[in-house]
Amino acid sequence: MYTTISNILKDAVRRKYAVVACSAINMEMARGIVSAASRANAPIIFLLGQNMMRQHAKAELLIPMIRTLAEYAPVPIATCLDHGNDPERILYSFRNGFSSIMYDGSLLPFEKNIENTKRVAEAVHSMGMGIEGELGHVGIAAACDGRDSSLYTDPADAERFAMETGVDCLAVAVGTAHGEYPKGYVPHISFERISEIRSRLPEMPLALHGGSGSGEENIIKAVEAGINKVNVVTDLFIAARNYLRDETASHPDIPYIELMSGMEKAVSLLAGKWISMTGSEGKADGIRPVNRIRTLESFEVVGLSE
Ligand code: 13P
Repeated sequence: MYTTISNILKDAVRRKYAVVACSAINMEMARGIVSAASRANAPIIFLLGQNMMRQHAKAELLIPMIRTLAEYAPVPIATCLDHGNDPERILYSFRNGFSSIMYDGSLLPFEKNIENTKRVAEAVHSMGMGIEGELGHVGIAAACDGRDSSLYTDPADAERFAMETGVDCLAVAVGTAHGEYPKGYVPHISFERISEIRSRLPEMPLALHGGSGSGEENIIKAVEAGINKVNVVTDLFIAARNYLRDETASHPDIPYIELMSGMEKAVSLLAGKWISMTGSEGKADGIRPVNRIRTLESFEVVGLSE
């Protein structure tokens, strides 16, 4: 069942849980994640980042594959261009069958972020797709950006941003950061900040980026405070890499198909853990997937690069 993030996340707000949003850069990861979601009867979101696609994971190949898996899966599945800020990439997502995009204007001045996000939201909605915006800035874990509270989302600004842009989901900066944290470091998440934003925006799905390495207790509390979408990418990549590393070290002549199937299982196992951590297990039944997503041959996002 292929649908948008807005369709999936409305239910997450209503029933107070979070949906796992993770990346797959090949068939094994995609299938492992879909089978984890299907086993758990949970909705799931696939993220494809701009750079990930430039480097390796081409949407022309991955999106049709994920959409095929979604057609056969018994659970709602969405795809989302992650951290789109390049008009070319946004256009590319319109052409390649994404169901949703995250427009990242978080490094722009507040008014410019509102202006651009609103413009992208209008275009995205006209395509029948869903849109996430970001306010405050979720930085890089290795640079300890999560500790810098000046980057956190301001609750009053969040209220204005949501109202004026028309986004379907808001990514908030509350202490996490992207990628691997320095060894032994577990982020301090501001649950108060999440609750404050939640009380100002009772119906807005809130996204937590930089889920990897954040610790189970933090994730559970963040969801209790009001988070509805948890992005986790690095942890799944590490699980796949470690499986390949360990398995080829202990069985250097392992048949390739066996190796790939083993990696798929390793990814699936970890995805399943995240699904239960976020409380989305068993929630697929409450969602009625809607698919009015259009794919255009060409679409002009006027003036975005100004
Ligand atoms: P991690 O790789 O730290 O889990 O972050 C993922 C993310 O937030 C993608 O937008």
